[in-house]
Amino acid sequence: MDKKITVIGAGNVGATVLQALALKDLASEIVVVDVADGVAQGKALDIWQTSSVFGFNARTVGSTDDYEMTAGSSVVVITAGIPRKPGMSRDDLIKTNASIVKEVTEKAIKYSPDAIIIVVSNPLDVMTYAAYLAAKKHPNKVFGMAGVLDVARYKAFLANELNVSPLDIQALLLGGHGDTMVPLKRYTTISGIPVTDMIDDDVLDKIITRTMKGGGEIVNLLGTSAWYAPGVSVALMVESILKDQRRIFPVCAYLDGQYGMKDICLGVPVIMGSNGIEEIIELDLNAEERELLETSSKAVKNVMNVLDDLKLF
Ligand code: NAI
Ligand code: 2OP
Repeated sequence: MDKKITVIGAGNVGATVLQALALKDLASEIVVVDVADGVAQGKALDIWQTSSVFGFNARTVGSTDDYEMTAGSSVVVITAGIPRKPGMSRDDLIKTNASIVKEVTEKAIKYSPDAIIIVVSNPLDVMTYAAYLAAKKHPNKVFGMAGVLDVARYKAFLANELNVSPLDIQALLLGGHGDTMVPLKRYTTISGIPVTDMIDDDVLDKIITRTMKGGGEIVNLLGTSAWYAPGVSVALMVESILKDQRRIFPVCAYLDGQYGMKDICLGVPVIMGSNGIEEIIELDLNAEERELLETSSKAVKNVMNVLDDLKLF
């Protein structure tokens, strides 16, 4: 296991990704980079000091904006940028985060040209698109994390309502990482039992609405956005890549004709393996699902127009 992973941004999400990757022992070295002096080193050292307690070997090391230390990484996770405050949408973050994502992607790619890049910074779909443009890599190697988190929230709410284990819930979700995301009732089962057999439609609708606004619920409680569930969701994707597990996740992927859409990054189910996105799974959507996906893609396109206006690329 002579692998290196890089996490850019040592804030709430970045540090949680770092810890989750270390606990899974997914690489021999995990480097975390931040612009804030000492923060990455401090968090990496603190996490490394848990190694004998938790029983992992992955060395966590920090760097203040020095990308040489990241050289040869197999996977680079981008969490750098500002999070939401109450009253802000994810889209309000674009002006600050677009230039950060461009800069850190270019720096990371310089030292790890073969790396798979996972974007976490918001607004997620457009930041994934920005990283794709900055990295100039095959789109199967540049994608974003959102769907794993959104599905995890959906499963948590369903598990509470049904009083069953969240482990027995299978679910899928499409579209952008915003209030227009599309949780799919038709593809939600409890150990194979259609969810609609176990729950009234109006209750399910409320759970879906809560899932769509799940990020905002936490922002209102904490004054900043979530990090535990986002962090471990990233780790699940990295694990599937580095162990070539070929797990199926909803991932923010660059679409080139799939679902009738082109030149946009949007959440779709994919098979995730050692090459990144091994395959985008195209579901046979019904008219209602297709319309919801269209609405979600329009919301993402609006934010892409803001990115265009910034003239960064
Ligand atoms: P945070 O403020 O705790 O951490 C962000 C870190 O990025 C800070 O430590 C900051 O110094 C660093 N940073 C800023 N510019 C940098 C640069 N040029 N190079 C390296 N580091 C830089 O924020 P948090 O909570 O960790 O969130 C990070 C991002 O992730 C936000 O944009 C947030 O909206 C997004 N997010 C996305 C989720 C998703 O599902 N995709 C879920 C949760 C958060
Ligand atoms: C979340 O959904 C803010 O995107 C982040 O928690």
